[in-house]
Amino acid sequence: PERVFSGIQPTGNLHLGNYLGAIVKFVALQETHECLFCVVDLHAITMPQAPDELRQAIRRIAAAYIASGIDPVRNIIFNQSQVSEHSELAWVFNCVARMGWLNRMTQFKDKAGKDRENVSIGLFAYPTLMAADILLYRATHVPVGEDQKQHVELTRDVAQKFNNDYSESIAARGHTAGFFPLPEPLIQGPAARVMSLRDGSKKMSKSDASEFSRLNLSDDADAINQKIRKAKTDPEPLPTELEGLKGRPEAENLIGIFSALSGVTPEKVLADFGGAQFSSFKQSLADLAIHKLGPIGAEMRRLEGDPGYIDQILRDGAVRARAIAQPIMNEVKDIVGLLR
Ligand code: TYM
Repeated sequence: PERVFSGIQPTGNLHLGNYLGAIVKFVALQETHECLFCVVDLHAITMPQAPDELRQAIRRIAAAYIASGIDPVRNIIFNQSQVSEHSELAWVFNCVARMGWLNRMTQFKDKAGKDRENVSIGLFAYPTLMAADILLYRATHVPVGEDQKQHVELTRDVAQKFNNDYSESIAARGHTAGFFPLPEPLIQGPAARVMSLRDGSKKMSKSDASEFSRLNLSDDADAINQKIRKAKTDPEPLPTELEGLKGRPEAENLIGIFSALSGVTPEKVLADFGGAQFSSFKQSLADLAIHKLGPIGAEMRRLEGDPGYIDQILRDGAVRARAIAQPIMNEVKDIVGLLR
């Protein structure tokens, strides 16, 4: 049976990349799949977080899920640390994954920067916790943006090595095709990698110093208008065909954003706007972004004003998530030879 798992870190503001690269796909997948959508607070503390801000940020991600149209009844929306099996399985995976595998993770290299001796061990082990998130539910599909592809591939490696290392014990328990499935990343679409509005060669990110580099889900109409008006472009008019976007990363990014927000293919967007100057295209893009994001931001603010409601959804989600996770974690313990 197919099962979807994904998560978002409660750090900083949610931006258009998180929305188009991940949340929009979550909203679609709930129609066809059993889904778990997690707020990964344990991943957030791999970097320093102020406790009160972290608590707020956790609720804000849950609010964003709901405000974007994810139904908390049909799906499981929950917070990672409230299901302690995530940490338990992560430890087992720390003993399965190899140092060499984690040394190759580009996100670790980016986040650690030059001062490798001084980052937390949690930041290094981040991907084994992510593998635990996914495999604790034996999830088969993982909707993420392009930047998480390497982590999902590592998750497959961990699953495969666990299946191999314990193959006899697994077979003895009646599993004929290994214990963990090899989960597939779902990355496709025109917004798998949304780029910075200031620099088409950098991805849109929570950590970029410039507010003008990203649209936040919480931005009001004025902010959206300004940021899109100031978005970097080149002097040529828009091309009429995809070919013409080659070597024009800023134009390609804006067309991709328009396509993802409108649900119209990039070809069709160019057929409509090809030959136009950026200024008129940008006005249409700003109108579209305000139309799509405005109501979500407003609903998020409304939900954040009712933390009791959010906390109840997260508690309920944790109970439902644990009902799936606990029997799987028990089997892992039996397979490995841990007494319970
Ligand atoms: P995080 O919190 O950095 O980002 C959340 C989701 O947003 C996507 N994303 C983007 N997509 C397109 N363009 C961008 N510029 C962009 N920036 C971010 C990310 O790819 C992600 O899908 N490690 C994960 C969280 C995680 C997780 C998991 C995901 C923890 N456990 C298990 C899936 C399954 C992360 O840091 O995402």
